[in-house]
Amino acid sequence: MKIISSPEEMQKQARLLIQSGEDISFVPTMGYLHAGHVSLMKIAREYADTVVVSIFVNPSQFGPNEDLAAYPRDFERDEKLCREAGVDFLFYPNSENMYLDDHSLWLSEEALSTVLCGASRHGHFRGVCTIVAKLLNIVQPDFMVLGEKDAQQLRVLRRMVRDLNFHVEIIAAPTVREADGVAMSSRNKYLTPAERKEAVCLFQSLEKAKALFAGGERGAEKIKAAVRTVIKATSGKVDYIEIVDDETLQPVQTLEKPALLALAVKFSGARLIDNTVLR
Ligand code: PAF
Repeated sequence: MKIISSPEEMQKQARLLIQSGEDISFVPTMGYLHAGHVSLMKIAREYADTVVVSIFVNPSQFGPNEDLAAYPRDFERDEKLCREAGVDFLFYPNSENMYLDDHSLWLSEEALSTVLCGASRHGHFRGVCTIVAKLLNIVQPDFMVLGEKDAQQLRVLRRMVRDLNFHVEIIAAPTVREADGVAMSSRNKYLTPAERKEAVCLFQSLEKAKALFAGGERGAEKIKAAVRTVIKATSGKVDYIEIVDDETLQPVQTLEKPALLALAVKFSGARLIDNTVLR
């Protein structure tokens, strides 16, 4: 596995691979890798000869009061995991070479980004779109694998790729869960032991919603109320519980088309998100 920190060098390597006829699969990450990331790498391998993983804690997607400084980092462990997963290139740039001092160009998606996490994390998706556009220009992949856990991010980036004609196919990878159902996330590390136990409420509330839906319930308010009841039995504070059209991300009252049930819950140390599509 080759570790590259210079964007120019990574882009040069990508050009060489493309010229020699190799396909590239790309997994963008912010590091502190876990089994969920490894599953993305395995999926990436199914699509292409060369797998590139990036690790970059992107400052521009964190708000001023968010956890940028405290975001967990462990490059040695990440490097080992990537090697074991058979990654070919690990792109590990730093803020200075990704954002020059006079960086002044930003990308904003203006519809899907305004709701859910976009409503409570202002500027988050502007940061995500900008960095992913840069990474795509540097790595030039044929495929980019993204987790379904970040449902809104997946939809925003699909829109960016469509609207700006990026030459990449986005592959959505299923959420990987711990044995009790908690979605794997680097931020789970921030939970106290008691909160970690309670964090299963997100999964349980989604299961409850799925059961209601399977039983014929189509009223969004009723399903959201059931989800809220499960969360309220814990110390978690609801940031949002929304049922939105799976394509437009606009709220729905009656579930007639596939709908995304998405929730964000704040614990003392971490804000967790999870989702399911009710179809
Ligand atoms: O999902 C993430 O880890 C990040 O938002 C991403 C896509 C790597 C961009 O920084």
